[in-house]
Amino acid sequence: MNKAQVTILAIETSCDETAASILRGTLSGEPQFDILSSVVNSQIEIHQKTGGIVPEVAARAHIQNILPVTQEVLNKAQLKLDDIDYIAVTSGPGLVVSLVVGTEFAKGLGLAKNIPLLPTNHMAGHLYSAFAQNPTQTQFPALSIIVSGGHTMLMLLKDFYNYQVIGQTLDDAAGEAFDKVARLLDLPYPGGPAISKLAEEGKEQIDFPRPMLDKDNYDFSFSGLKTAVLYYVEKLPQPLTHQQKADIAMSFQNAVTDVIAGKALKAAKQHNCQTLTLSGGVAANKHLRATLEKTCRENNLTFLVPEFALCTDNAQMIAIAAYFNLRGGQTPTPAGQVKANPAWELV
Ligand code: KG4
Ligand code: ZN
Repeated sequence: MNKAQVTILAIETSCDETAASILRGTLSGEPQFDILSSVVNSQIEIHQKTGGIVPEVAARAHIQNILPVTQEVLNKAQLKLDDIDYIAVTSGPGLVVSLVVGTEFAKGLGLAKNIPLLPTNHMAGHLYSAFAQNPTQTQFPALSIIVSGGHTMLMLLKDFYNYQVIGQTLDDAAGEAFDKVARLLDLPYPGGPAISKLAEEGKEQIDFPRPMLDKDNYDFSFSGLKTAVLYYVEKLPQPLTHQQKADIAMSFQNAVTDVIAGKALKAAKQHNCQTLTLSGGVAANKHLRATLEKTCRENNLTFLVPEFALCTDNAQMIAIAAYFNLRGGQTPTPAGQVKANPAWELV
């Protein structure tokens, strides 16, 4: 396609949000794009009943929502399918039964309207969400911290198109640890926002471990921290008071933050990074954002973090990732076809 601007419809169904978004941007020159519309239909209320996601239930909700969400995003942008150049769709990683709803829907739409597909990696979506505002202010090399429910990664970016994973979690992801500790404290699903809110009332600091902080690598391990919280809780008389829970929430949140900030700063210094980005669901955590902002200020690093709504899953980030992938040379998949998925692996 040889046009100055492209219009991308993005679909995201990797977990428990049915989302669509439309982006219009330039293919040559500096990256420049506008999000014309974005719709997220969250299934949180459904999954609160079971205290977590039941994949089959999530997939059924995606089936119900995918068409109205796509229609709504087109209406909001005042566009028709004929105006769409590419359909970007999250092809992994995620819950397979959820992913399949989005990818099959995108294939069908592409086939019916002869629109090529851009299979897009969900984690690349989180990565590029940090560039939603003014991407040109990014100075390279950059270090990206991606902290979500399923992943914890440190990535080194040479530029917008070349990056590598330099560290990741060896067991639980940061968001998973928040969710599991929330369950220990009888807090509602999803655990991250609940812990974060309760932590604001915390007073007494409990000395939980900072796993892997002193190790000479950039990997993480949060499962030991979760177990330390479990042992601490088990030793207390039950039921816990509200204040005890708040102290645990604050101390746990501080431990996670110290590890992430400590590892990220070490990596940024070692690789002479100019910019540090934070994204993924856990990037919605106010304490983590504030700590990293301060760390960056003190170390002369530009700090980029998406607005709150862009941290947790959405399709805007998939549209942005697809836009950068296209500029970086990704070959679109012909309408209706799905080949062995090039976007399944991040790098
Ligand atoms: O990126 P995301 O929406 O989905 C995945 O790709 O996994 O991340 C969801 C995760 C959940 O574990 C949730 O508890 C966590 O992000 N989360 C938070 C906050 N908001 C969401 N964790 C800590 N503090 C928050 N404010
Ligand atoms: Zn995600």
